[in-house]
Amino acid sequence: MDNYIVNTYRRLPVAFSKGDGCWLYDNSDNKYLDALSGIAVCGLGHSHPKFCRALCNQVNRLIHTSNLYQIDNQTILAEKLCNSSGMEGVFFCNSGAEANEAAIKTARLFGHNKGIKNPNIICTNKSFHGRTIATLTATGNPKIKNGFDPLPAGFKHVDYSDTNAIITAIDDETVAVMVEPVQGEGGVNIPATDYLQQIRDICSENEILMIVDEVQTGIGRTGKMFAFQNSDITPDIMTLAKGLGNGVPIGCCLVNNLATEILQPGTHGSTFGGNPLACRAGISVLEIIEEENILENVTKVSAYINKSLTNTFADVKEVVAIRNTGMMIGMEMSFACAEIVGIALNNGLLINVTADKVIRLLPPLIMTEAEAGILTEKLTKSIEQLIANKK
Ligand SMILES: Cc1ncc(COP(=O)(O)O)c(C=O)c1O
Repeated sequence: MDNYIVNTYRRLPVAFSKGDGCWLYDNSDNKYLDALSGIAVCGLGHSHPKFCRALCNQVNRLIHTSNLYQIDNQTILAEKLCNSSGMEGVFFCNSGAEANEAAIKTARLFGHNKGIKNPNIICTNKSFHGRTIATLTATGNPKIKNGFDPLPAGFKHVDYSDTNAIITAIDDETVAVMVEPVQGEGGVNIPATDYLQQIRDICSENEILMIVDEVQTGIGRTGKMFAFQNSDITPDIMTLAKGLGNGVPIGCCLVNNLATEILQPGTHGSTFGGNPLACRAGISVLEIIEEENILENVTKVSAYINKSLTNTFADVKEVVAIRNTGMMIGMEMSFACAEIVGIALNNGLLINVTADKVIRLLPPLIMTEAEAGILTEKLTKSIEQLIANKK
């Protein structure tokens, strides 16, 4: 079918031609409940009327000028992001990996400014930070790195949710600790409640940067605008992408405290980063989240989904654990379960599997309780079929 496309994805045999809220329609007009949101991207669902109007207006007016000039939409979006996060500045790019590249470059430059020749960054096992050479090196998953040696030096890995390991790993050349507030690709791994607070303390004591990768958790996914706001901290660097553009490619790296003045003219850049169209998308997403009280909806509907799944699967031995924070839900099975993605597709439900055994749900943030009811029904049926197939 895709003779001219480089074969990097194992794609499902379905193509969608339109979307409406939490629903996608294939080329034969079959309807699917989207419980994945384009992998945590379309938080406002598909074809949100106000979002679409904002984009159409912007397309008709101006799409791109370049960072050689002032960009009003960039200024507006940066101010909104800083006001809602407590950060001090924003660098705009186009994806999560690029946002993390900016974070890594900032941390290295911060180190060099202090006279550190070979700066290192402490990352975690089972993390995911992207697929560029630096971000796959930061990623704590050998499968993502295999075949891409030689990898750059300057990254150490410790177990997630283990702050003693961070303390042990810090040396004179450590410049930053980089973590996801919840590991998404790693299996929806939720750390101890004081994990971020402890990392904040460790970083402050050692005058190193705390980098939070909120590419997946940011923009309302956990019920707060940013997942770090579930703790009483502010990081030095935060990266965003996915949900910020609701499908329009945009990423950014926000800086604070010791990280604020590090990037200077000539040190970093991006042709497309923060163009008028992408920033208009970001502005519109933030406006709609506020106007429609979407964070409250996340908390309410996520509690409904969690309760329903917990009740249904309490006595099902194949379901080892259900992990949930906002609209980020992982069901760990006792066996590798990639097969369920096709089963669910046949039942009109879009989900995925990560870390081999974890069924992952990332529903649109706008999902209603009625739709969440359909979601849990379809998922329950799919898991029953999966378990029956194994017997
Ligand atoms: C936490 C995290 N960081 C970075 C990335 C990479 O983002 P992108 O695919 O936009 O480069 C992802 C993508 O899944 C992610 O989940």
